[in-house]
Amino acid sequence: MCGIIGYTGPLDAKDILLNGLATLEYRGYDSAGIALCMEDSSICVTKKVGKVKALKEYCDQVVKGSSHSGIGHTRWATHGGVTDANAHPHQAGRVTLIHNGIIENYHALTEQFGLQDELVSQTDSEVAARVLDRIYTGDPLMAIRELMRLVEGSYGFCIMFDDQPGAVFAARSVSPLVASYTRAGAMIASDLTALIPYTNQYFVVPEQHIVKLTPYKVHVYELDDTFSKFYPEIMTVNWNMDAAMKNGFPHFMLKEIHEQPDAMKKTILPRISKGLPDFSDDGIPDSIFMDCNAVHIVACGTAMHAGMVARALMEPLLRIPVTVTIASEFRYEQPLIDEKTLVMIISQSGETIDTLAALRLAHSCGSKTLAIVNVKGSTIARESDYVLYTHAGPEIAVASTKAYSVQLAALYMLCCRMAFLRGKYTAQQAADFMTDLLDAVPAMEVMIAQQESIRQIITHIIQSPDAFFIGRGLDYAFSLEGALKLKEISYIHAEAYAAGELKHGTIALISDQVPVIAIATQQHVFAKTISNIREVKARGAFVILLTKESSVVDDTLADIRIRIPDVDDRFTVFPIAVVLQLIAYYASLGKNLDVDQPRNLAKSVTVE
Ligand code: F6R
Repeated sequence: MCGIIGYTGPLDAKDILLNGLATLEYRGYDSAGIALCMEDSSICVTKKVGKVKALKEYCDQVVKGSSHSGIGHTRWATHGGVTDANAHPHQAGRVTLIHNGIIENYHALTEQFGLQDELVSQTDSEVAARVLDRIYTGDPLMAIRELMRLVEGSYGFCIMFDDQPGAVFAARSVSPLVASYTRAGAMIASDLTALIPYTNQYFVVPEQHIVKLTPYKVHVYELDDTFSKFYPEIMTVNWNMDAAMKNGFPHFMLKEIHEQPDAMKKTILPRISKGLPDFSDDGIPDSIFMDCNAVHIVACGTAMHAGMVARALMEPLLRIPVTVTIASEFRYEQPLIDEKTLVMIISQSGETIDTLAALRLAHSCGSKTLAIVNVKGSTIARESDYVLYTHAGPEIAVASTKAYSVQLAALYMLCCRMAFLRGKYTAQQAADFMTDLLDAVPAMEVMIAQQESIRQIITHIIQSPDAFFIGRGLDYAFSLEGALKLKEISYIHAEAYAAGELKHGTIALISDQVPVIAIATQQHVFAKTISNIREVKARGAFVILLTKESSVVDDTLADIRIRIPDVDDRFTVFPIAVVLQLIAYYASLGKNLDVDQPRNLAKSVTVE
């Protein structure tokens, strides 16, 4: 969480930092701030509660003169409330610092350095700035290395020293940082989106290294006695700025919903060979699919929900245990995994701290790890044994949409390959599965084209403080994501329930006009689901029913019916996902909320 950026070069630093922060804002938007090294070498800090737009307006009023280097931060509050004082950058003597992460031993450091009376904020980050100032004797590399030895926790720091005008220093442990020497000068940021307007070449700052940016160069140093230079691998990003712009859409979320069919094709098509899924170009050997006797999927949030769908698909087909665990639980649970378990890690950002910890735990248990990741070169992608990149392009809206669909596409392909290799599918059955998967793409397009009619049903949902999503089997797995999406951006309390479980308590909450979004696309449990829908209808629920086009139901069952194309039962999640995303999107819009940046959230959860 928190977006950070540093710049030094020939251009106006204020503009570069503020524009960069605007693209990083999805990482946190409680407050924002910049520090500029002015022409007289003084450091000017401007920070403010609220979004980057407010900071921009404030900077226009108060920042006089020009500057060619600086650092900027957009905050997702962890330690200390949302106040101007807690906003970054933090200044302490000769040090100006921004931080993404959590300094876990900040109390101990406060006492060790006797900082109690100096602190002007409640943040762990200010403690790091003050410690650095105490140990700084004019050699930035020595002082930063010492700071890195002292602090425990996660951090991406960008730092300026009063006596080093034009230079920006950075260091990281766990929290992500990417850097580049661009046509505009030297830049570093928590996320690629801030660098893309200036370059398509970048490197991932390695953990436990120090970076120094000057207007002419970017150097990376080891932490050894002589600060040996390190030469990181330069990577090329395969999307451009258009991908990170709204391009005429009112919100990133709607744009990203629309991008799903294309993202699906980009993820699936290059991996089909002779009609079958083939991961040889990804360097994933078939042996990992054949040698395992269990699959354990670990992820958070929407990515975990993609895992739930995969579990419901895989286990009955592969006839081996397929378990899904929330990463923040898995890491403290002593999970039952070993070298015969294939651990699948799912993460859009590739930086989610709990998911990363789960990956490391899986390695320590001897399991093979396969990560499904969207962001190239991210920590999870680099640390897993094998990586299957999804090709969704940048996902900017905080609520995940296209990343979910492509995670599912990747999982479906993996499932198909495993079924084929393990003798559960013939080559023909595997090829048919892939054809059905591709058929799901136009079905998504059909639902996107119905966005206006989906918009019409929203009035029934936004009038209620609660909503329920019900379904059985795969439909239940889809419901989980529908409920999360609605909660996340419309702030309507929503729960997903296995339709058969309602009678065990939850049905007490169903009363007059409570919206129930019922998903009934699975033929083998269709009649059972319909009975459960009748039960809620009989108690006054306002039922919005999602079924396949050809399903026969009587008109009294639902208040509203949304029909999806007749794809095979296993693939209904793809058009259903579009419907559920559009329901959440229009509910948020209908309540005049901030669709792309819902309260309290941030895109990439890099703290525990
Ligand atoms: C919800 C959402 C989150 C993420 C979760 C995991 O819309 O976006 O639930 O899915 O924080 O993030 P990644 O996939 O980056 O690990």
